[in-house]
Formats: sequence, structure tokens, C-alpha cells
Amino acid sequence: MVRFSNNLIGFLNIITLLLSIPILSGGIWLGRRASTDCEKFLQGPIIAIGVFLLLVSIVGIVGACCRNSCLLWIYLLVMFILIILLFCFTIFAFVVTNKGAGDAVSGRGFKEYRLGDYSNWLQKRMENSKNWRRIRSCIQDSDVCQSLQKNESFNQFVNNNLSPIQSGCCKPPTDCNFTYVNETYWNKPAGFTSSDIQDCNTWSNDQSALCYDCQSCRAGVLANIKNDWKKVAIVNIIFLIFLIIVYSIGCCAFRNNRKDNSYTGYNKAYP
Ligand SMILES: *[C@@H]1O[C@H](CO)[C@@H](O)[C@H](O)[C@H]1NC(C)=O
Ligand SMILES: *[C@@H]1O[C@H](CO)[C@@H](O)[C@H](O)[C@H]1NC(C)=O
Repeated sequence: MVRFSNNLIGFLNIITLLLSIPILSGGIWLGRRASTDCEKFLQGPIIAIGVFLLLVSIVGIVGACCRNSCLLWIYLLVMFILIILLFCFTIFAFVVTNKGAGDAVSGRGFKEYRLGDYSNWLQKRMENSKNWRRIRSCIQDSDVCQSLQKNESFNQFVNNNLSPIQSGCCKPPTDCNFTYVNETYWNKPAGFTSSDIQDCNTWSNDQSALCYDCQSCRAGVLANIKNDWKKVAIVNIIFLIFLIIVYSIGCCAFRNNRKDNSYTGYNKAYP
């Protein structure tokens, strides 16, 4: 039993060490070929997670297998902070994604999305131009609007169940009353100069612009985050339980190490 917790911590950390290698190589590979803002944006966090996992695993392995109490203590501290952070993040994200939903429009298979419906904190993150440039670049990379182009008639098109990002970013808002030509090409009505609805002015038939800078596009991204959040929360909670179990085993190993060390000290003193 004394050795068991140490061995288990060592074993778990060998797994995370092995896991960190593909993550780290993936991040570096992405960094080398990154040509768009989206890829550059993803590269940083992926490398950071890889390095973090690598360091924590090494500290855990050495701490558990070499019975080094000091390293094991650092390992437990990092785990503890991670548990607290993950817990706070889960609660915070629940609160922040609580508000906001798409609006149903009569005669349309899709919903319209308005930025004002979402929590102020999320709105501010989306309005930050640096954040938005990166997210916009990820949307452009994903070809989410190109995948819409099926040369449908207007009646076919309006019955589509568009994803929030497709509804917000690939077409002008329904309220603009623009004339449908094809999925990503809409004519402004004759004599249109500017509208009270900002997004109607922002819309462009330039296929690299479309409604990517619209408020509705930011709202679509938030709707997506909100939908996905439920899945992320479940993964988070499972991960949190896993971390707490590892932390408890780690505490066991730490106690055993100290007990062992004090026994050896005793043996040395009284051979
Ligand atoms: C669009 O058409 C509706 C009904 O014809 C009208 O009430 C609305 O003001 C129009 N919107 C714009 C932005 O012109
Ligand atoms: C949509 O219509 C525009 C204008 O007629 C045209 O230039 C464009 O190629 C069309 N796009 C597709 C995917 O058919």
C-alpha cells in the first residue's frame, strides 16, 4: 500500500508525459506552417498546454518515483491550483453563457442572432478588435460560408436550418430586406444608402467579407459557444473529478514519502 500510491502517481504522469509530446509537436508543427491569423492564434495556447503538461509530468514522475518530497509538494500545489482554477472557470462560464438565444423569424428555417442578447462580458470580448480579427480569421479558414453554396432557390434557402455562424456571418440579417441572388450574394434594394441597422451597411458581396464584421456574426459565434458549452462543461466536470482523484492519491504518496523518510532517518540514527 505504501508503494502503491507512488507507483500510481508515477504511472499516471508517464501517461500525461506521453500525451504532452504529440500536443507539443502539434503546436510546433502548426506554428511552422501557420499562415493565417487563426493558426497563429491557436499555436500559442497549444504549445503552452504541451509545455505545462510536460513539466508537471516530469515533476510528478521524479517526485513519486525518487520519493522526493519537495518535488511532490510542488506537484500537489500545481494540481491544487489547477483544480481551483478549473472549478472557478466552470462556474464562471456557466454564469456567462446563461443569457442569450437566437430569435426565431417567421417563414425562416433559421434563427437570427443579436449581440445585445448576450451577457455584457461576452459582448465586450467580441467587440475587442484584436480578439475579433482572430476569430474572424478562424471563421474564414473554416469555409463555413462556402459550404452553404448549393445554388438553391430563395424558397429552398429560407427553409434551411442554418447554424448560428452561418446565419450571423454568411447572409445579411433578414430585417435588411435585401434581394436574394444566391446563398452568399444579396442585392441591396434600389436607392439603398444606409440603414438604421448597422449590419445592413456592413454587409458586402465581396466573398471574403460577407457579414464577417457584422454584430450578428459575433452573436452567432456566441450562440455557438453557448451551445458547445454544455458539452465542454461535462468534459470539464469529468476532468475535475479525475484531477481530484489524482490529487488525493498524490497526497497519499506525499504522506508515505514523509513517513518513509522519517523512518530512514530513524534507521540512520540508530543502525
Ligand atoms: C423591411 O420590410 C419591412 C416590411 O416591408 C419594413 O417594415 C422594414 O422597415 C424594412 N426594413 C428595412 C431595413 O428597410
Ligand atoms: C452568386 O451570384 C453572383 C452574382 O450573380 C456570382 O458572381 C457568383 O458566382 C454566384 N455564386 C455562386 C456560388 O454561384
